[in-house]
Amino acid sequence: MNTDELYIKRCIELARKALGKTYPNPMVGSVIVHNGKIIGEGYHHKAGENHAEINAINSVEHKELIPESTIYVSLEPCAHYGKTPPCALKIKELGFKKVVIGAMDSHDKVNGKGKKIIQDAGIEAISGILEKECIELNKRFFTYHEKKRPYIILKWAESGDGFLDKDFKPTAVSNTLVNQLVHQLRADEHAILVGTQTALNDNPSLTVRNAEGENPVRILIDFDLKVPENFNIYSKEAKTLVLNSIKEETKDNIQFIKIKKESFMPDLMNALYKEQIQSVIIEGGRFTLQQFIDAGLWDEAIVIKNESLKLENGTKAPEFSYTANKTENYRDNSVSFFTSK
Ligand SMILES: NC(=O)c1ccc[n+]([C@@H]2O[C@H](COP(=O)([O-])OP(=O)(O)OC[C@H]3O[C@@H](n4cnc5c(N)ncnc54)[C@H](OP(=O)(O)O)[C@@H]3O)[C@@H](O)[C@H]2O)c1
Ligand SMILES: [Zn+2]
Repeated sequence: MNTDELYIKRCIELARKALGKTYPNPMVGSVIVHNGKIIGEGYHHKAGENHAEINAINSVEHKELIPESTIYVSLEPCAHYGKTPPCALKIKELGFKKVVIGAMDSHDKVNGKGKKIIQDAGIEAISGILEKECIELNKRFFTYHEKKRPYIILKWAESGDGFLDKDFKPTAVSNTLVNQLVHQLRADEHAILVGTQTALNDNPSLTVRNAEGENPVRILIDFDLKVPENFNIYSKEAKTLVLNSIKEETKDNIQFIKIKKESFMPDLMNALYKEQIQSVIIEGGRFTLQQFIDAGLWDEAIVIKNESLKLENGTKAPEFSYTANKTENYRDNSVSFFTSK
């Protein structure tokens, strides 16, 4: 690893501290280096707050060193006026010696414009340093902007004999260690989705009680509005989108969005794109998961298996024939991770 790569690696490390907290913005980290020494560091904490570059600049004690310094940033500096002025202009104004960019920003409003502002100001700018890692860091953000849909993660827990529940009634399938992992996974993603039957049978609240982080946006598929509004998924703790075929209406934390059953997947993807949902975990049940699998609309899958548990009868696990990238064991449960393509 050369020195540019080392500093970009540090940017990634910093950026990752805000995992799950920056939606709909990307995670970005920045490091300022003068004569081989880091004199400033920062990352983007939350949408609406300072961008990484600004936090890094603000952390520099001796600002007079900036014109002789290089600023490293994991994602192309922005070029548009959003909630904050463009970082590319700030970099130009302060007159950095050099700018090193991890990945370019494919977001329509940036897409090369940030780098161009910097270069037009006569500042040397290079990009594509640890590019693969920088894209992986923001896989949700890049998928959202490039595919115009959220990054999709399928997740379920099945018994040794391949069931999701017992006799179509909720049953604990995974152990407490895995449950904690699942809550962390939820906190990292922007949203979490369940089908009608799961909401009715399990009455889940879909919050992140056992982990640190924000509650994801809850998404309920309920065409005929069968799930009563006193169910946990309607609780005040988090925002809920209810995709249905009856009404379009927002009250407090609940937003009803009308979609058609016949064009379920495209309508859902459009609605989630419009709501700026950058990632979603599909938590079931079988019917819902299978629609994503059959449509090939998924990026990752996480399958928990409790090998010694036999449930004999109930909702079958989805049909899914892919090879896991890796499998981890948590006591008597295994967790397999899959990525599509
Ligand atoms: N072990 C696990 O990881 C896990 C996870 C989640 C759920 N579960 C279990 O799975 C069971 C429920 O699974 P399920 O397959 O019966 O139900 P589900 O996927 O939660 O809900 C499916 C139902 O939603 C309605 N629906 C209609 N169109 C839909 C669409 N396009 N997308 C989504 N839903 C649509 C349909 O009901 P109508 O035909 O009535 O309209 C459909 O039967 C529960 O007992 C739950 O405990 C287990
Ligand atoms: Zn910016």
